[in-house]
Parts: sequence; structure tokens; C-alpha cells
Amino acid sequence: MNIQSIVEQMTLEEKAALCSGASAWTSTPIERLGVPEMIVSDGPHGVRRVPNVHEMAMESLPATCFPTASCLAATWDVALIRRMGEALAEECIALNVDVVLGPGVNMKRSPLGGRNFEYFSEDPFLTGEMAVGFIEGVQSKGVGTSLKHYAVNNQEYQRFSISAEVDERTLREIYLPAFEAAVKRAQPWTVMCAYNKVNGTFASEHDYLLNQILKEEWGFEGLVVSDWGAVRNRVAALKGGLDWEMPGPQPRRVQEVVDAVRSGELDEAVLDESVRRILGIVAKAAKTPKEGTFDVDAHHKLAAEIAAEGMVLLKNDGLLPLQGHQQIAVIGRAAENAHFQGGGSSHINPTRVAVPFSEVQSRAGDAEVTYAQGYPADDSFRQEMIDEAVTLSQSADVAVLYIALPTFKESEGYDRTDLDLTAQQIALIKAVAAVQPKTVVVLNNGAPVAMSDWIDDVAAVLEGWMMGQAGGVAIADVLFGRVNPCGKLAETFPIKAADAPARLNWPGEAGKVRYGEGIFIGYRYYDAKQMPVLFPFGYGLSYTSFEYSNPQLSAAHFKDVDGVTVTVDVTNTGSVAGKEIVQVYVHDRASVLARPEKELKGFAKVALEPGETKRVSIALDFRAFAFYHPEYKQWITEDGDFDLLIAASAADIRHSVTVSLASTLDLPCLLDKESTIREWLADPRGQAVFGPMYAQMEAGARQMFGSASENGNESAIGMDVMVMFADMPLVSVLMFQQKALPHHPEEIVAGLLEQVRSA
Ligand code: BGC
Repeated sequence: MNIQSIVEQMTLEEKAALCSGASAWTSTPIERLGVPEMIVSDGPHGVRRVPNVHEMAMESLPATCFPTASCLAATWDVALIRRMGEALAEECIALNVDVVLGPGVNMKRSPLGGRNFEYFSEDPFLTGEMAVGFIEGVQSKGVGTSLKHYAVNNQEYQRFSISAEVDERTLREIYLPAFEAAVKRAQPWTVMCAYNKVNGTFASEHDYLLNQILKEEWGFEGLVVSDWGAVRNRVAALKGGLDWEMPGPQPRRVQEVVDAVRSGELDEAVLDESVRRILGIVAKAAKTPKEGTFDVDAHHKLAAEIAAEGMVLLKNDGLLPLQGHQQIAVIGRAAENAHFQGGGSSHINPTRVAVPFSEVQSRAGDAEVTYAQGYPADDSFRQEMIDEAVTLSQSADVAVLYIALPTFKESEGYDRTDLDLTAQQIALIKAVAAVQPKTVVVLNNGAPVAMSDWIDDVAAVLEGWMMGQAGGVAIADVLFGRVNPCGKLAETFPIKAADAPARLNWPGEAGKVRYGEGIFIGYRYYDAKQMPVLFPFGYGLSYTSFEYSNPQLSAAHFKDVDGVTVTVDVTNTGSVAGKEIVQVYVHDRASVLARPEKELKGFAKVALEPGETKRVSIALDFRAFAFYHPEYKQWITEDGDFDLLIAASAADIRHSVTVSLASTLDLPCLLDKESTIREWLADPRGQAVFGPMYAQMEAGARQMFGSASENGNESAIGMDVMVMFADMPLVSVLMFQQKALPHHPEEIVAGLLEQVRSA
């Protein structure tokens, strides 16, 4: 397709029409110019291809349901996510889909977010790495992706309208980096804007987010599509950088665009730019193979492999792996009715579903395996079900409880109101554990649940997530030790909902949700508050143990632009093969802005035979040390020492090594006539120019007031005035000494600023 020549031949009406979909899932074709239709389809942990792409149907064609993003992130395995992406693309081709609508990379700001199961992590770095792997995998096969939901879309409450009120630094350091990494490194074909407003402007009309940051700053080459129904004002959206409105058709909106160009309200060049972007992606989609087959069995196996890698063993008193038991009581509805995905637009029609109970049975050898439902599908309380489970568990020598957080408590479209299991589930676990000390709880949920009521009573807990259609296989493999669990949490499990970072600003009121906790979400928050958690970020147990030794640095002193590499030896010190996820967090010793205690900046997953040692190497670049300074409006580094924490989890630091960074930045001076004395002294140029004057001021103040320390805490006015002055504007301090000064304070400060700027 020669895009330029097509644009030149298109009528205004055709251009406007192209910028909206033709139907629920298709773009508008232009037959006379040979522009075909493009088909998009939901996902992203499977292909949700409706039989008739021109309609908004609920049913979809069978496709492999892979685990959802919470589980994917817990694998910390980018290569595996890439393979999943490749498999997804094969299914897209087989089902005639050009673009799959995902991945979702929004941050888990609160554990109560209804769609958290569809998102990777509370950490932007880990999320970005996962997204890059996913996108590269899908797009390597000529199928497109849609990175969503851009941006600051972290809750379901009033998701179509609420304004996320977020400061610039928080936006840049927490809510944008995963999008940034994905765009810069993997160029998704499309980016989907969010429904919500960001600082008062709809994400679908957000010139700053869409035009300035996404397209200009990051160099996004593809098209921006609206979330389904996110557009309010089509003309404002085009101006703001939203290229393609979905779903269609939208004849009224098309007319509005035509009218706006005719009246001069909308520059046709803006429309042309969107048309060009859409045609560019339609041209790519035209090359996507339109038919094929996929290996249903192989993909089911891959789904099982991913689920197994993502399961997180949270607690194990030594009961797992199960061995030599004669009677196994399997309790819980989810053992028969696998709970493997969440509700909403990502809901997949699986090609098959592994039944967890049958998978246990098939691995149990001669043992007798019994089953009781334990809890109903709804929220009713059924004591007789608990009684039945207790009777079975009592006579067995181990009880395995499959506990799934029901859809009425967790789904797209609504947030959770608490972190609790149902009252029946809690009572069931307690009752079974009371009669059977060898009780294992297997959880199926997309986000943290509270466990304080019962965790001390049970011997083991396995976090099975929304594990995809083959998750039942993975659970049984882990329970019986055919797979050694190796997943680690990509999100903190708090003790209770009230501990969560966004607690005081959730879910917002009067149309706004204030991101008052700023950059302190997830472990950044719990670290800052020194608050105990149920399970920390990065945590997960194994059937073996790992030792970390011999940490080394590529250089003790380095330039920010060169980065630095940290290496460590990891040894499997147990008796079974296993995989360890090594994490590197960066701690900045001193900074002009408050920084988190530590931030994840690198990780590696390593497979080790018993007794084996491997050297793990993790490279850290400029951004691993930088922070976003809202006044400089850029990422900056400062000279100084950083501790690199080599860790098995956010709460299990094995080694700390210190590096010294030399910043290569030549930053403009931020001092102005309102700068405080402390700011003057902190700035190297300010210090040089103002330092001598400060020494005089200090001496004068001592003479006049005495000093708190010299006079045993009793200066003439009972305080240390220089400390008070430190945070006053220099000009204000000088105003009090006007009489003694040769010039007016404002002139003096202006003179100093002049010297600083010419320095
Ligand atoms: C969801 C998107 C989804 C779209 C199409 C929206 O409601 O937010 O994630 O891709 O619908 O189904």
C-alpha cells in the first residue's frame, strides 16, 4: 500500500470514516482504494474472537486460555511470556485476528482494583519487562498488539469518568514507565487509551499524554485506539492524538469531523496524520496471514507450563510435596469447577479445561481420593457443606482445599470492597484445619486475599492465581513435587485492606481520585512506613534452597551513561532441581527529592540442579539510578553512592554492594528569586556565589542572637535562627537586615542570580 498516494486520493468523508471503526471489531475498509478491513479482538491471555466480528457478541470461538497477568508476572520469565505471545499470535492467525487487544500494563495501585488480575504488577520495571516480552512474542509472527489502558487507569469505580489526579513525578516514575519501555523497545502496533480522565482531561483527548509524550517523546509509530466507548468529543480527541475510535460505526461522529474540517475548527493536517497512522497499521495487518491452524495440545501444555512457573508457594511447614498419603480429601468447588480466569472483556472460551480434582487423582497412585464441595457458588452460608468436608478430612491423612475467590468478589467492571474470602470459605478452612493438621490451601484469585484468620492453622498455602485452562495440571504437579514451585509475587500481599497504600484516597469522590501516596505504591509504600506485610513483593518458596555468594561489580565507580553490572553466584543447596529468581534493588543514599527505600531495577531467573552453582549477571543502566525531577522536567542522576541490594525478595536481601555514580548531566540552575537559603547552599553554583555571604550572615546572627548550642540551648531568643532561616527565601531573610545592607535585598538577590547564571 502506498500510504501517501492513498491519503491524497481520499475524500474528506473517507478520511473521517476511517478514523472510526466499521463495526464492533473491524476498521473501515475503502474498497475503491484497495484499503482492506482490519480485525481486532480481545484478549490478552487468550484470543476472544467472536464468531461475527461485526457484532458485539458475548460468545467467542474456542481458544487457549492462558493464565492471567498476575500469574504471568509471578513467573518473572520474560522468555516464557514471549513464547506465550508467539502461541497467541498463532491462534490469532488461525482465528483470523490481526491485532490482539493487550497487554494491560496498568499499575496495581491498590489490591482492591477489580481488574488487577489482568495487570502484571505493582512495580513499573517488572511490568515493563513482561510487556516487552509479550509484545515481541506476538508481533514476531506478524500479529499486532494493543498496549492498554493508557494511562493512569487503576480502578473500576467510575472508570468511564473519574479524574485520576496525579503529580508529574508520580506519573513519570510509576504510571508511565511500563508503557514507555514497551513503546520504545517493542513498538506495539496500537496503544489503547483509557476511559478515565487524567488531571481533568479525558485520556482520549489528552494532548500531553498522547501527542507530546507517547508520539513525540517516545517515538510511538503506531495508532492510538480508544478503549471501547471512551471517546466523548471526537474532534477534541483527534486534536489530542486519538487516531481511531472504537467501536463503530459512528456516523454522527464522522459527520462532526467532516464539519469541523470544513468550518476550520479542525486542521485537515491533523486528520491526515491520524489517517496515515491508521493506514500504516492496516497495511501491516493486510500482511498478517488470514488462516492457519494451531496445535491445541501443545498450547494446552504451554498454558500448563506457564501456570506452573507462576504458582507461588506461600507457606510450607514441610507437608509439600505430598508423599505416601493413603487417603487424600480434596475439598472445594474449585477442584471440580476450575476457577481459571476473570470476568469481563478478557473472558476466553477455553479449548479444554483441566479438572483439578482429576489431576490429583491421576497422580495419587494407590491413595484414595475423596471430594466434598465445601462451599456453594453463591454467597450463601451452608453449614452442612462444611460438616461434610470436616467428616471427609478427619478420616483422610491430608486435606487439600481448593479455594477460589468468586467472580462476584473480583471482576472487570467493579472493584473489590475487601480482601476477604467468603465467610463460608473462611469457616470451611478453619473447620477443616481444626480436625486435620495436614491441610493445604490452594488459592485461585487474581489479586491478594487476607489470610490472617486462618493461615496459622494450615500447613501449606499455594497461590494458584487465575491459572488458565491448564492450571489444574500445574497445581497437581506442584502438590506432588513433579514441578518444584518457583514463582515469586509480583505484588505485595498486605495483612489487611486498611494497610494498602491508596487507602486514604480510594476510590475517590466528587469525580476525582487523588493519588496522594505519590510514588509510594506497593513495596515502596510498605518500606517507607516500615509496615509488616503478609507476604512481601518478590517472595516465593521452593522445595529446595539457594545460597547467594561472591557478589561483584563491573566497576566501583561508573558514569551514569555507562551503567554498571552486578554479578552473583547462586547455588542450589538442596536436594532437588529448582529455579531461583534473583532480584536487584537500588537504594539511593542521598537525593534532593525523597526516594523510595529501594526500587527493583533488574532480575534474572536461573535453573539449578542440586549442588549446582551459576553466575548470574544483571546490568543496570542510567534509568536504574535516575529519578524524574519535575522542575528540570527530565530524568536526572546525581553524583553519589548507591547500594545495590541483591535479594531473594523485597524482604530478603542477601548482599549489598556499594557503587559510586558520576553524573554526566549538565543541568540548568534552578535558583530563582524565591529560592531558600538551603537551596542556595545545596546548588554547587549557588554555594560558590552565595557561600561567602552566608558565612558573614552566620557570624552576624551569632553575634546578635548567640547560638543555641553555645548557650546551652538558650540563645537570646531561645532558638537557632540560622536553622529557621535555612528554609526561608534568601530575599526574605535579607529584608530583616535591610538597614545594614548596601543595596535593597531584591537587588542583591538579582545580582547573585546574575553571577550564578554566568558562572
Ligand atoms: C475494556 C478493554 C477491552 C475493550 C474491548 C473495554 O471495556 O476496558 O480492555 O479491550 O472493552 O472489549
